[in-house]
Amino acid sequence: MHIAITTPTGNIGRELVRILQSDTEYQLTLLARDPSKLATETAAGATVQQGDLVDADFLVTATQGVDALFFLIPPDFGAEDFRGYQNEVASNGVGAVRENYIKHVVLLSSVGAQHAEGTGPIAGLHDAEIAFRETGANVTALRPAWFMENYLPHIETIRSDGHIYMPLAPDARVAMIATTDIARAAVDALATPPDGFEVRELLGPRDVTLEEAATTIGEVVGKPVQHIQVTPDQARAAFLAMGIGESLTGLWLEVMDGFNHGRVKPEFPRTEQATTPTELSTFVASNLKPAIQRPA
Ligand SMILES: NC(=O)c1ccc[n+]([C@@H]2O[C@H](COP(=O)([O-])OP(=O)(O)OC[C@H]3O[C@@H](n4cnc5c(N)ncnc54)[C@H](OP(=O)(O)O)[C@@H]3O)[C@@H](O)[C@H]2O)c1
Repeated sequence: MHIAITTPTGNIGRELVRILQSDTEYQLTLLARDPSKLATETAAGATVQQGDLVDADFLVTATQGVDALFFLIPPDFGAEDFRGYQNEVASNGVGAVRENYIKHVVLLSSVGAQHAEGTGPIAGLHDAEIAFRETGANVTALRPAWFMENYLPHIETIRSDGHIYMPLAPDARVAMIATTDIARAAVDALATPPDGFEVRELLGPRDVTLEEAATTIGEVVGKPVQHIQVTPDQARAAFLAMGIGESLTGLWLEVMDGFNHGRVKPEFPRTEQATTPTELSTFVASNLKPAIQRPA
């Protein structure tokens, strides 16, 4: 099977390619802006098509002759209209699916994508689900929960004062998943196309409160760690200071509010298929702790 993969240098994409390359059944075409980041994958037999996902012609040319497409809309942190940007990238993917009669698309969506509004950047993934569904191709929408990797930007304050500052309530209960488990689910999805459109929610091993998550992080890191809820205004100032644009900043505040008020949640009850194995403690031990211990 010939598979085209977007964002092969990202959290999910890189792991997805690594797993697929351990199986000789797959021929891989990787769509990337900078092929020099994919030397290992190229040496292992993948073809790289160089280009940008905002380029509609690039997507059509790069996906000619493929049987399946893994499609992820990467963040453009500075986009003036973030939802408009998401819709543009999705529309380019849809154009490639139609033009090249691609039979199966695995779309990286999100928990909460059943809602058209009120979920921040997830609403753009709601739009993408509909746009790909309308192509008539077989489409698997993967809807992962909150990424455990979202803790990585907090290593500095965990290291300095043992605090994680977020505009999320300490008692907000969320499902958390490691991106390695999303990549494994994408491999399964590519191997088992649906007949039509399907949603697969991916919810990590369990739901936890932000307070419980901070306690787990502290236990693994070896010092007390506390979740501190900041106000939306404080969070806005922090996002803007990090260089995040006004549009995405507003959407992030909306999604955080959605988590706090239970608006952003799975559409379906948790099932065995939706439950993925990597525990937060395992993720912290393998990813967060080494990053915290590395000299600043
Ligand atoms: N964070 C969460 O809790 C959460 C939850 C559910 C769903 N999601 C969704 O998950 C997705 C992010 O997944 P991820 O963490 O695997 O992504 P990621 O690590 O941020 O990877 C994005 C990759 O996309 C590439 N890229 C960026 N802009 C591009 C462009 N215009 N054209 C081509 N390539 C481009 C970048 O590669 P180069 O820089 O090497 O070019 C980068 O490696 C988003 O769609 C998000 O909405 C996130």
